[in-house]
Amino acid sequence: MPALPERGRRAWTGRARFYARNWRLLRAALRLWLLGLGDLPEAPRHALREHPHATRLMGLDIANPIGLAAGIDRSGRLLRGASRAGYGFSEVGSVTPQSLAASVRRLGRRRSPGQAMPRGVNIRPATGASAERMIDDYLHCLRRLLPVADYLVLNLSSPFARRGWAADPVWLESLLTRAVEARDQYHRNGGGRVPLAIKVALAPQVSRHQQQALLSCRRAGLDGVLLVAAPGQPEAAVCQCLRQVKDLIGEMALISVGGIADAAQVAGRLRAGAAAVQLFSAVLGQGPALPGRWLEQLHPDPQPDPRPGSPPDQHPDLHTDLQGETA
Ligand SMILES: Cc1cc2nc3c(=O)[nH]c(=O)nc-3n(C[C@H](O)[C@H](O)[C@H](O)COP(=O)(O)O)c2cc1C
Repeated sequence: MPALPERGRRAWTGRARFYARNWRLLRAALRLWLLGLGDLPEAPRHALREHPHATRLMGLDIANPIGLAAGIDRSGRLLRGASRAGYGFSEVGSVTPQSLAASVRRLGRRRSPGQAMPRGVNIRPATGASAERMIDDYLHCLRRLLPVADYLVLNLSSPFARRGWAADPVWLESLLTRAVEARDQYHRNGGGRVPLAIKVALAPQVSRHQQQALLSCRRAGLDGVLLVAAPGQPEAAVCQCLRQVKDLIGEMALISVGGIADAAQVAGRLRAGAAAVQLFSAVLGQGPALPGRWLEQLHPDPQPDPRPGSPPDQHPDLHTDLQGETA
């Protein structure tokens, strides 16, 4: 996909500035709209996998690959509205230790399979927590949310939670190992298997530290990576980054969020290796009922972009890690 021309990029950053200035107002309007939708009686739904754009994300059936990003529905009040607005999945949060009890109460029980849109829950530590305390916060939230979430996201993209990502591999390894262990323990004790993902911002290039950190995610047994594109980043660079990350993480699901403003960008990100995308600013700026409009323009089965060479060829420095893993 060609890079955004300079004029297009300026228009995009202009829009982003507008959303940033007015986001409280826009978000309040959006929440009211989604709440209103949630009050309507549920329309009869086909099984999720019968929708024309149905796909799977981290082992979950979703009606389509367009999700609602975290930050809009902080506690799960808008799930029914998001489902009726046509989103394939919705991410609640970020939930923090402070907002945990209310979110757990609201989310109640996990959805029954095939009945409603999957709900992820995004968690982050308390503002200002120390490095060790951050891990405790993630684990505390994770354990309480396992019974009520269809998937969980450790949010390391937040300004409150970024410490340690990629630059501190020991901290990251400790967080990931303990989080996966807590998730697996829940599964062994008879709870369902809840997919676990990490949300990170990697822009504009994937550094060597970040490559190693992504490989740690894979080794630890995470199910997905939610990649935040930087504001104003040319679309071609975002897709290049997605391809590079997808090659690194292999079977793990890649979800793309950030700067998506039309259906063509959704298609491009899916072709670049994303299993799904999430919307935030576009929903505030263009209204919540985007999925229906955009899905009409999307081919139900996007073909991946051709990739030159095999993944290890593209990352010769990481070859040994990958080999060691499969051995
Ligand atoms: C006002 C605001 C609040 C947000 N709150 C959260 C949050 O609580 N948790 C989170 O993971 N992301 C949060 N995000 C990030 C969004 O989920 C999304 O990753 C980001 O805005 C990029 O997508 P966009 O370009 O479509 O806006 C927030 C973003 C904004 C602008």
